[in-house]
Amino acid sequence: MSELSTSMILSSGVAIPRYGYGTFKIDDDGAQAAVETALETGYRLIDTAVGYQNEVGVGRAIATGAKREEVFLTSKVWDHGHEDVRRNLQESLERLNTEYLDLYLLHWPRPSVDKYVESWQALLDARSEGLIRAAGVSNFLPEHLDRLEDETGALPELNQVELHPYFSQPELRDYHNEHAIATESWGPLGLRSGSLFEEPVVQVIAEAHGRTPAQVVLRWNLQRGNVVIPKSVTPERIRENWQVLDFELTPSDLSQIDTLDTGERQGGDPLTVGG
Ligand SMILES: NC(=O)c1ccc[n+]([C@@H]2O[C@H](COP(=O)([O-])OP(=O)(O)OC[C@H]3O[C@@H](n4cnc5c(N)ncnc54)[C@H](OP(=O)(O)O)[C@@H]3O)[C@@H](O)[C@H]2O)c1
Repeated sequence: MSELSTSMILSSGVAIPRYGYGTFKIDDDGAQAAVETALETGYRLIDTAVGYQNEVGVGRAIATGAKREEVFLTSKVWDHGHEDVRRNLQESLERLNTEYLDLYLLHWPRPSVDKYVESWQALLDARSEGLIRAAGVSNFLPEHLDRLEDETGALPELNQVELHPYFSQPELRDYHNEHAIATESWGPLGLRSGSLFEEPVVQVIAEAHGRTPAQVVLRWNLQRGNVVIPKSVTPERIRENWQVLDFELTPSDLSQIDTLDTGERQGGDPLTVGG
């Protein structure tokens, strides 16, 4: 893959940048500063959520840092139920100071609440009305995706899931590919447990390419076909993480990094998060 495409077409025809910036665990002021730096650096996909409580800061940064139509803006809703999703969407649009979202996601399936099908219908309605350009989910398992298709006839355009070399989700990616669902990787640096950057495999490959371990791990994620959204509040790291589009891992590099998969999540379990 010498020419890595910098965007991907979702099943509805909407183009999404392959590479973006995540804002988890940053408050409004921090998000404003960090997103301003990300936009200056070149990132054009910004990922937030109601639950991150930083949509006001993200909105301020976009208002000053870029033309709205040049930014692909994602938010996520935690609540379930048709009315709750509609109310949350309106409130997110107001906080983000925008008339539409490029992508809106159900943040977690919360199967014991058992309202994700109704919530998904609310996203389909919002897409029909033009309030969101693309509709997706996050942390959904194939059983949840199958149920959405069975009961609404429509599959999400994208599923944002934990995905890094320690938890590379090959079966889920195959399922997504078979169903035209784009895979977006959260936690792409795999730093919540273990020390991925100190893995000899990663260090040797980084040395060979004259790159940092972070750049190698992010590039692996991109070359495995995913949309990738690393987060940092550190300006140097925001810029370091952007420098992943101008080098290429070999097939051997990719398969060596694949061997790091433990099959174990670092983050929450979709069957239990959110009750
Ligand atoms: N849908 C979901 O349920 C879900 C869950 C989690 C995350 N997300 C989204 O995915 C985004 C990314 O995931 P994440 O924030 O959990 O994890 P991540 O991007 O894999 O890692 C972020 C951590 O890595 C550090 N870091 C970043 N670049 C680095 C570098 N070049 N060298 C060393 N350390 C570096 C950051 O530190 P500093 O900030 O201190 O620089 C921060 O502690 C989130 O921000 C959010 O938008 C979604």
